[in-house]
Amino acid sequence: MCEPRYFTVEYSINPWMDPNRPVSTELAVRQWTALKETYERLGHQVETIQPQPALPDMVFAANSGTVIDGVVLGSRFRAPQRAAEADFYRKWFLDKGYRDVVMPDRVNEAEGDLVWTGDVLLAGTGFRTDPGAHAEAQEVLGVPVVSLHLVDPRYYHLDVALFVLQNATRTSRAHIAYYPGAFSPGTQRALRRLYPNAILATEADAACLGLNAVSDGHNVVLPVEATHLAAEVAAQGYQPHFVDISELRKSGGGPKCCTMELRG
Ligand code: ARG
Repeated sequence: MCEPRYFTVEYSINPWMDPNRPVSTELAVRQWTALKETYERLGHQVETIQPQPALPDMVFAANSGTVIDGVVLGSRFRAPQRAAEADFYRKWFLDKGYRDVVMPDRVNEAEGDLVWTGDVLLAGTGFRTDPGAHAEAQEVLGVPVVSLHLVDPRYYHLDVALFVLQNATRTSRAHIAYYPGAFSPGTQRALRRLYPNAILATEADAACLGLNAVSDGHNVVLPVEATHLAAEVAAQGYQPHFVDISELRKSGGGPKCCTMELRG
């Protein structure tokens, strides 16, 4: 995670970002700290990276790397305003002793668009990550990739339209939740085939960035406004934990955007 010490909304690269609307950096830091403490309270170890003054979106750690079994695929941002973030994260991985760190050639916004399910990597495209990055991810990470097409600009990254509640096991597919309206008709059909038991989120669930949730298989951390989704999640046996991310949402981000998962 990366503290939002320099968080602002001074440019607009998604429909959530309005540079004319006031943002409180101090409140963003408090909300981010509460998210970090939530993970720690649930028994997770959190590593942090030093924030950088000229990179207000650096708080969205999910966009800077995809780590599976200790192999790191770095990122390449579409927007020039965020481009420099990638190298700070690359250096962080090297400092931490990761040996297999590969930087992509194609635009690749990492876990923003690449969602690991335990057996396949779901890969979004349409707004940010280049479809060519999907094949690259398969080569570098050595996992099967399923491409998904996003069509609604409010849900410009896959991780604001879909999340994994429970990873796949040897005998069952992953358990996921998603908002169908974020995807093209063909992708909706593909998702129904792959995940017939998925939780289907409503427009209201999606509109508060409720799908930008983080699950460890038992606990699901999600925005406080996502009450309907939380009830669905609870009905399926998971424990919801609410966080307030109102300031970060002004940049189009939620709990998952602030969180890069280090797998192995
Ligand atoms: N303002 C950031 C952007 O538009 C938000 C990124 C949110 N990150 C995410 N993983 N969805 O790039």
